[in-house]
Amino acid sequence: MEQFFKKVILMNDVNILSIESSCDETAAAVVRNGRQVLSNVISSQIETHKLFGGVVPEIASRCHILAIDNVVSQALEDAKMTFNDITAVAVTCGPGLVGALLVGISHAKALAFALNKPLIPVHHIEGHIAANYIEDPEWEPPFICMVVSGGHTHLVHIKDYSEFDILGRTRDDAAGEAYDKVARVLGLPYPGGPRIDKLSLEGDPNAIKFPRVTLENGSYDFSFSGLKSAVLNYINKASMKGEQINNADVAASFQQAVIDVLVQKAILACKEYNSKKFALAGGVSANKHLRAAMQAACDENGITFRVPAPILCTDNAAMIGCAGYYEYLKGNFGSMYLNAYPGLKLGEKINEQYQLQP
Ligand code: KG4
Ligand code: ZN
Repeated sequence: MEQFFKKVILMNDVNILSIESSCDETAAAVVRNGRQVLSNVISSQIETHKLFGGVVPEIASRCHILAIDNVVSQALEDAKMTFNDITAVAVTCGPGLVGALLVGISHAKALAFALNKPLIPVHHIEGHIAANYIEDPEWEPPFICMVVSGGHTHLVHIKDYSEFDILGRTRDDAAGEAYDKVARVLGLPYPGGPRIDKLSLEGDPNAIKFPRVTLENGSYDFSFSGLKSAVLNYINKASMKGEQINNADVAASFQQAVIDVLVQKAILACKEYNSKKFALAGGVSANKHLRAAMQAACDENGITFRVPAPILCTDNAAMIGCAGYYEYLKGNFGSMYLNAYPGLKLGEKINEQYQLQP
């Protein structure tokens, strides 16, 4: 079946209109043949959620409803296309906020139905991983990938397009979540990751010795809640003693503790799985210090390193169009009964189990 689809589509360009609405970005893109981004429109809700110090799910859903029509139209306009030029519609179906996901899914289903084009459900994390295929058109599996985002921290062995072995994941907070929480106690606005990234430039990463939590020997799991508590304790103790803290030093030292653990586990996995290719993905991989540290460690160990451009690290629809292309090749289409799957696991397929048939 897969071979049949490949043969049919390789004769024509595949233009995928993709939609992403799993959290606080309403995004649409047009991606040609999985690798060429013809448009990539992102409408961010950050200014709205900033007022509350984090994403408010109900508000996110409402903002998506207001934005989605214009964002999709803009994506087509930027790609200089009409709906007739589209081969299929891809959409993030999980994981994410259920109400937010449903807005994108309903829109995609309506388009696919009206245009009589295939609907392609895409896993959000597979999208993040696929951003590397856009960044480097020659990049192919197998490789080791670390996905560090606001909701997820995964170390994954990418064996083939959409074939994954999860080596490790966070046991508590995701890396981005830890960044956002530490930023909050430092009085920085949401989202805190980019603020800590910037503030760290002025701080000393060795000023405060925060714990590096590596868990059991050889484990690829992560834990960031202990580090987060250590930062909170440090700040509380200093304030009880009436001592002034240096926010830049706290930010830089916290960040260094995160990066040390991520780099150590990444290299360990590459060695154990005999991989000479390593890629970063997800919002936190926009972090300048993390990118530099991973590049240096990979260079030192003879590993080729890739990371998407910062705009493709955080949530966007181009990555969904890219991942959607490889699902399209496999003929993994969704029915009009496709639902939102807020807790969808990486590697869990959108098959009959999820795609209730009429
Ligand atoms: O991948 P993403 O856009 O959304 C999720 O799927 O979760 O990731 C958002 C997360 C937020 O926690 C944000 O603070 C973090 O990525 N982030 C960063 C940076 N840019 C975004 N963290 C550290 N440094 C950055 N430059
Ligand atoms: Zn994401």
